[in-house]
Amino acid sequence: MSLPPGFLDELRSRTSLGQVAGRKVLWDQRKSNQAKGDMWAPCPFHQEKSPSFHVDDRKGFYYCFGCHAKGDAISFVCETENVSFMEAVEILASEAGMTMPARDPKAQEKADRRTLLIDVVDKAVRFFRMQLRGGAGAEARAYLARRGLDDAAQDRFAIGFAPAGWQGLLDHLTGQGVKAEQIIEAGLAKPSQKGGKPYDTFRNRIMFPILDARGRPIAFGGRAMDPNDNAKYLNSPETPLFDKSRTLYNLASAREAAGRGKPLIVAEGYMDVIALATGGFDAAVAPLGTAVTQAQLQMLWRIADEPIMALDGDAAGLKAAYRVIDTALPLLEAGKSLRFVLLPEGQDPDDLIRAKGQSAMQALLDAAQPMVHLLWRRETEGRIFDSPERKAALDKTLRERLRTIQDPSLRSHYGEEIKRLRWELFKTPRPPGRGPFRRGAASPPAKPTEDTRGSLLASGGGDVEDRLREAVILAALLTEPVLITEFESQIETMRCADPDHAALRDCLLRHAGAPGDDLREAADSALGGDALEMLCRARHVAITPCLRNRGDRDLTRLTIAEELAKLEARAGLDAEIAEASEDLHGPADESLTWRLAQAALARQSAQRAQAEDKTEYDRGPNGAPINREERSAFAALMETIRFDKPGG
Ligand code: UTP
Ligand code: MN
Repeated sequence: MSLPPGFLDELRSRTSLGQVAGRKVLWDQRKSNQAKGDMWAPCPFHQEKSPSFHVDDRKGFYYCFGCHAKGDAISFVCETENVSFMEAVEILASEAGMTMPARDPKAQEKADRRTLLIDVVDKAVRFFRMQLRGGAGAEARAYLARRGLDDAAQDRFAIGFAPAGWQGLLDHLTGQGVKAEQIIEAGLAKPSQKGGKPYDTFRNRIMFPILDARGRPIAFGGRAMDPNDNAKYLNSPETPLFDKSRTLYNLASAREAAGRGKPLIVAEGYMDVIALATGGFDAAVAPLGTAVTQAQLQMLWRIADEPIMALDGDAAGLKAAYRVIDTALPLLEAGKSLRFVLLPEGQDPDDLIRAKGQSAMQALLDAAQPMVHLLWRRETEGRIFDSPERKAALDKTLRERLRTIQDPSLRSHYGEEIKRLRWELFKTPRPPGRGPFRRGAASPPAKPTEDTRGSLLASGGGDVEDRLREAVILAALLTEPVLITEFESQIETMRCADPDHAALRDCLLRHAGAPGDDLREAADSALGGDALEMLCRARHVAITPCLRNRGDRDLTRLTIAEELAKLEARAGLDAEIAEASEDLHGPADESLTWRLAQAALARQSAQRAQAEDKTEYDRGPNGAPINREERSAFAALMETIRFDKPGG
């Protein structure tokens, strides 16, 4: 239905917001100036004692200085009566003596059919309520009592009982003049396959009416009384009234409660919603046996900026959380997000509130985690990032996830937080007062000092590994100069992290094919000493098998080929890491580089260490896990410093 031009202006000018709002608030006589249309009251949209809700009756606008609610008479009616825009217009128009324009016949017909079906469902609600109170409902009543659902809760949620027979509801409704087709269309009966009478959809079940956003019954959820029933819960089928993916259990009432300042909680099932609502968490909803959909998220965000997803703390709950994250990421906009509460394993909100009470639930809600933390947890939990390949893979996945966030500013804030978490993960734990960790290496300077800046350490951990490989290759070539020509093209393109190595590489290429002695002499003068000796100064180089037992040409060839391949692989990886790090957080700052260097060192030493059991953890005084890898990381660090400054 569309409104004729000028209709809304006319309606607004005929309506007094002061009068409309006056039905819901108590004006503060001292603060208000009725004559000027300047009115103050405690706000109807949030809980308060002092009057911060202001109405400018002449302009027809309200604004609350406490909760910032604002709008005109139409939005006021929408909010306080929980109705749609058109319905609010209808209400105000009839008060103002204005005739609503006629609906177009198609829309009218659809609306009429809807109203008719809603009436059928409403009759079913009454029937099920009656059954619960009657003789057939004795067992169901006992069951509800066992589950702690008192009369007040049963009334509030209009809980009923569908008896065990095949045509209880059908006979009742047809007896009231409802046609069988309508009962079927409302999803309450199914046509018989054998040409007989239709039969009831719900039999021997506790019935939970599902209401639309305006509080009208449109469908049911039914819980089996028989524990052997193959469907514990059964929902109404999709009908003209009921679209599962666009409906949330208890939405209308939750919306009103959220308006009063209650946190909006999304639980998994009917019983959770009821337990939450009766436990004082009135703004609770649940999807209907399916994963949360985009449409449902949009509905939630219309009610609250940060709905809280309350999920089981088990694997299934986590999986559900991850699925919600994937659905939510592309929809996020500034100010709209989700929080997550993971309940103790195997408990749902219903179990928790019954076992530990409201305060236990409140404590969990207070500690609800932001979405980005779960995003992080999903990609990192239970994994070990002990190799550059694994770290790069992590960065890549995170980058892909963040890319799905459409809002650029939000995406960058997520990137920032991920950067922080990444830093936390990759930094070496620094337990105070724990053995060798206490040394200089233990507390990183905010920026590398002049001393460390030039050292291998500050130039990045990856370099240390590269330099060792370079040294092995060059030393091997020095012991078997005939191999230089064999690897010539690869040596030509070999990047050297160490400038001395680069000089030696060039020297070897220049003297390729020259007699061994000439070559060694040139090499010695390039490095300013005994070149081979200097290359082998690092223990890891010296103990390389082909260098320790010189003269095995095949082994030397294999070693060179392998080390060259590893260097090349790393060069490719570096590009990937650089890109990832750029994407995640812009150019890394120096202290981060320092930290990453340490992480890389830990990784290297882990690879070298012959530790049989890498996962054996104990806890440092700061609670961070300490393991053998990290202990040997320190040893490697010390060794590197010795390598860097011989005799120092
Ligand atoms: P749960 O199996 O977790 O049940 O299903 P619950 O909510 O804890 O119920 P109680 O405490 O055993 O009575 C959670 C939700 O998943 C849907 C329902 O919406 C249910 O509330 N569901 C579950 C179904 O649709 N069908 C089923 O067979 C089971
Ligand atoms: Mn339960």
